[in-house]
Parts: sequence; structure tokens; C-alpha cells
Amino acid sequence: MERIIVVGAGVVGSATGRALATVGHDVSFVDISSERVERLIADHFTASTTVQLRGGEVVLISVPTPSTGAGFDLSIMEGAIATIGEAIATASTLVTVVIRSTVPPGFSQSIAIPLLASRSGKSLGEGFSVVSAPEFLREATALNDALHPWVLVVGSDDRDGAERVAAAFSPLGGEVHLFPNATAAEMVKIVHNSYNAAKISFWNEIGMVCSAIDVDTNAVAAVVSKSAEASFNPNYGIRSGFAFGGACLPKDLDGLIGFAHGASVPVPLLEAVRLVNHTMEHLPS
Ligand SMILES: NC(=O)c1ccc[n+]([C@@H]2O[C@H](COP(=O)([O-])OP(=O)(O)OC[C@H]3O[C@@H](n4cnc5c(N)ncnc54)[C@H](O)[C@@H]3O)[C@@H](O)[C@H]2O)c1
Repeated sequence: MERIIVVGAGVVGSATGRALATVGHDVSFVDISSERVERLIADHFTASTTVQLRGGEVVLISVPTPSTGAGFDLSIMEGAIATIGEAIATASTLVTVVIRSTVPPGFSQSIAIPLLASRSGKSLGEGFSVVSAPEFLREATALNDALHPWVLVVGSDDRDGAERVAAAFSPLGGEVHLFPNATAAEMVKIVHNSYNAAKISFWNEIGMVCSAIDVDTNAVAAVVSKSAEASFNPNYGIRSGFAFGGACLPKDLDGLIGFAHGASVPVPLLEAVRLVNHTMEHLPS
């Protein structure tokens, strides 16, 4: 059993903390919102608006990382890490800091570690350890997803810290993926969401072409989602570094782009697919 302090008790923090409590961990919460803290206390959790550490805890950070429009706004995250660093200064033993919020690749290494070191006056491995363990739950089913995760991604240079975090979460289930550094785990999370976003945009673009010729997009999608190997084989197309070729893929892609242009429907995503493939074809081998 671990003593786990969840900093940021919103959608992710509250669901993750509640799920970890069900498998026997001693979970408490910190949130700047006194209303959230009161709600958690009413649910018989320990919760506070301030971070206090004895030493030996796992501190899981799940504060917001909103968009600036051109990237992540990390100011809330940095503020929370600075506060945790100050609490580590007086902790008696090593504290494992887990970055659960979605952050850009390299955040743990280049921002979290130096900030914790400067605020705590302690060094990595002596006063604290930093582990990336991004969250994959869906907002609409947050608690259920946290209770039944399908994947657990953990990354850190500190193997013991990563294994400690993986062991804390693993009773909940999910396929465990351990990475030897935080950056790779951070990358998994933003690629995961961008992959989902690309699929949604693909079908929106196809929907506009279908509408222009009065074809039911949903009927087309219902079949393609089963007929295309990209849909039914998770390993299809995922090895980067190679252009697609063959008799049909380039020809039929050109055909759909040309057809859409003829129907005056913009297809920027399909054009980008062709452009990326041409780029791959011309890479030096
Ligand atoms: N919502 C989702 O479905 C989802 C899924 C996976 C990952 N994420 C990521 O998880 C992170 C958190 O998202 P969320 O949806 O839970 O946000 P949220 O807004 O629901 O909750 C964040 C909480 O953090 C608190 N907070 C803000 N600053 C704080 C501070 N300095 N100290 C303590 N608490 C503080 C807020 O009061 C709030 O309760 C983001 O990086 C997000 O991208 C979200």
C-alpha cells in the first residue's frame, strides 16, 4: 500500500485517486478549489488546499495544462510543481513525483526536475524521483475508465520509481508499458490523442465529399471500418520510415482527391496524406 497524494482533484485527479483507493492505497487530495476539497471530505477522503509531505509519498499531479492556441500553457503545472518542491524541502525521505497531466515531450526532464531541485534544495534521486504516467481515461466515463484502464504507460530514467508507480496502478489492470525515460511516455499521450483526432477529421472530410454527391457517409464508414486493414489490424501502417506504394493506394488516393476537386470539395487532409507520402519517397535511404 502506498501513501498517494493527488494534486489537482478534477476529472482526472478525482477519478484516478478514487480508483487507487479501491485497491487499498491511502489516497488523499490537494486542490486549490475549497469547494472540491469539501466535496471530497464529504465523501470521507482526506483533502486539503495545501501540500504537506512527510516523505515517502507518491505525489500524483493532475492539474490543467490548457492550450495557448500554439502549444501547452504550462503555468498552472509549473506552479503546482514549485509548491510540491517547497514541500519536499522538509520531507524526511524520497518523494516520488508522478506527472499525470498531459504535457509536451521533455517536460519532466527539462522543466519538472530542475524546478523540483531548485525549490526543494535537494537533488534527483536524493530528495525526489520523477515519473511520467499519463492518463488515458475518457471524460464522459472517467471513473469507470480509471477503475478499468486498458493501458498503463509509465516512463522514467529512474527504474525503481517507474516500477513503484507501475506496481501501485497495476492492481487496476491494463496492459503495462514501461519506458526507460519520461519523454517517451509523454510522447505516447499526445500522439494517442492526435491519432484519434486525425481519424475523426478524416471521416469529417470524407463526410463533406459524400454530402456533395448525396451518398450516406455513415453507410460508407460502417463498411470501411470493417473492410480496411487500417481499421481491423492494429499493427497495419504503424512502422514509420516507409512510403506507401503498390498498385492501388497512390492511384486511388489521387483519384479521390481529383474527384473531390471536381466536386469543389476541399480535401486538405487527403492532400496532406499524399504530401507526406511523397516526402517519404524522397528521403535519402
Ligand atoms: N479530462 C479528461 O478527459 C482528461 C483525460 C486524460 C488526461 N487529461 C489531462 O489531465 C490534466 C487534468 O485535466 P482535468 O480534465 O482533470 O482538469 P480539471 O480542470 O477537471 O481539474 C483540474 C483540477 O486542478 C485543480 N488545480 C488547479 N491548479 C492547482 C494547483 N496549483 N494545485 C492544486 N490543484 C490545482 C483545479 O482546481 C481542478 O480541480 C490535463 O493535463 C488534461 O489534459 C484530461
